[in-house]
Amino acid sequence: MDLTYFSELKSRDEIFISFVCLGNICRSPMAAAIFSNRTKDLTNPRVVVESGGTSSWHVGQGPHPQSKLAWERAGYEYSHKASQFTKLDLERLDLILTMDSENYSNVMSLSNDDVHARKVFMMRDFDFGIEPGQSVPDPYSQEDAAYEHVRELLESAIDGLIQTLWQ
Ligand code: 4NP
Repeated sequence: MDLTYFSELKSRDEIFISFVCLGNICRSPMAAAIFSNRTKDLTNPRVVVESGGTSSWHVGQGPHPQSKLAWERAGYEYSHKASQFTKLDLERLDLILTMDSENYSNVMSLSNDDVHARKVFMMRDFDFGIEPGQSVPDPYSQEDAAYEHVRELLESAIDGLIQTLWQ
């Protein structure tokens, strides 16, 4: 993973970050919930956090109840309404973290410009203890345990992302 872009991000006052999955109701809002709670007191840079889905299937809906329960059980507070990730988001935002390789390809296919491509990373590539290229598995239609697993994977990866941005 090429982290040279991060030295540029670290010098900014404010950066705009989005987490991206397929439906924008399970994984990416949970990532935004964890990240926004853990970074709310951090500055240099300040972060503005959102999330999006590569599909339009759930636009306007709230988070999946099992996802919201999983982040609330862990003590995170966050409100969310689903939206679709667009090319405009890719242009506007500074950093995009995708949950799996399908989301990654879908985001990357929105532009051929390197200026956009360098903003896009796989979420779990910030979990420095594992092989790169791994996914946060889709928990949709699964039991609560799948959502707890997603929360644990996200917490590890978000620890690494926070270290990368503030150390
Ligand atoms: P997410 O999970 O991408 O983590 O929000 C999904 C939500 C909905 C669907 C698939 C995945 N769906 O097929 O509607």
